[in-house]
Amino acid sequence: RSYKIAVIPGDGIGKEVMPEGLRALQAASQRFGFQLELEHIEWASCDYYAAHGQMMPDDWKARLSDKDAILFGAVGWPATVPDHVSLWGSLLKFRREFDQYINLRPVRLFEGVPCPLAGRKPGEIDYLVVRENTEGEYTNLGGVMFAGTEREIVIQESVFSRHGTDRVLRYAFERAQSRPRKQLTVATKSNGIAISMPWWDGRADAVGQDFPGVRVDKQHIDILSARFVLQPERFDVVVASNLFGDILSDLGPATTGTIGLAPSANLNPERRFPSLFEPVHGSAPDIYGQNIANPVAMIWSAALMLDFLGERAAHDAMLGAIETVLAQGPRTRDLGGRASTTEMGTAVATLI
Ligand code: NAI
Ligand code: MG
Repeated sequence: RSYKIAVIPGDGIGKEVMPEGLRALQAASQRFGFQLELEHIEWASCDYYAAHGQMMPDDWKARLSDKDAILFGAVGWPATVPDHVSLWGSLLKFRREFDQYINLRPVRLFEGVPCPLAGRKPGEIDYLVVRENTEGEYTNLGGVMFAGTEREIVIQESVFSRHGTDRVLRYAFERAQSRPRKQLTVATKSNGIAISMPWWDGRADAVGQDFPGVRVDKQHIDILSARFVLQPERFDVVVASNLFGDILSDLGPATTGTIGLAPSANLNPERRFPSLFEPVHGSAPDIYGQNIANPVAMIWSAALMLDFLGERAAHDAMLGAIETVLAQGPRTRDLGGRASTTEMGTAVATLI
């Protein structure tokens, strides 16, 4: 088995955590006997922008299309490039052009990590947030009329296609079916958003016909958010529209400790295009250059990549190593320790 991976560190601590992601991948490939053909890419960064006046070369898509996956660090250097330029010029192009319609974020509380929710133990928080990543509330359809007058009106439409809705629901059902608890929470707001959300619920019922073994629980987004905090043990897989999923996929990880742990996957499950794996955090200019960033979000994202590529055992070994290091140390400062990025990353890789 051999996989073609584009490695894009990006900016700031992206450049510090990426070597730790690669160190862990290297260990996993040796132990589990697969090959990684890595292509190291310097573009999709603000350094590239400084030299070329754009975030990526014009032929970026052709240069990535043959990859099995993209491993991404973080992009953004607001001191030199405005954030909307760096983000829209790179990451958001990947998500759109490669039709990465699933945004997946595992949420899990580890031993050794202080939980912001009082009294919670590892095992009580362990779920997946599946966010629709291409349509829904995030469209550019609309506009302002009578701008600047007393009659000013603004309209922005939501768009839910049957194709786009069914495919994210189906993916979520499949994930739920493959987990021991087989439970899917569908985020809705059919009491207030009385056209699109009852329709969304109906699509969940229709797609759910194919998954009789999965227990479905529809919850309004307001109470669902409260339960992420008050009763996180209720959740197994949670599926949500683009906006609701955006909020839930930040709230969930926030309940399990530092942002330095949270991984994410942007998936095109049919593999017509490469999928992208990246930590949730950004380039953290405030700590860049000190070798103190937590590498776990990057390493876990690399593990999600291996899982997606079919290397389930390697994923599990990487997660086991993360688990042990979080419990025993060494830990970076955001976890109350004093280890460097390199020390923590090396400790994880050694256990794989
Ligand atoms: P950020 O995630 O970079 O940092 C937020 C806070 O968390 C900072 O105090 C930082 O030091 C800390 N932090 C982040 N990652 C950490 C890690 N691995 N270990 C320890 N502490 C960590 O978000 P911020 O400051 O809002 O944005 C900085 C830049 O990153 C901006 O240019 C922004 O556009 C970009 N960004 C990029 C993202 C991406 O590439 N997906 C996501 C979020 C922000
Ligand atoms: Mg967000």
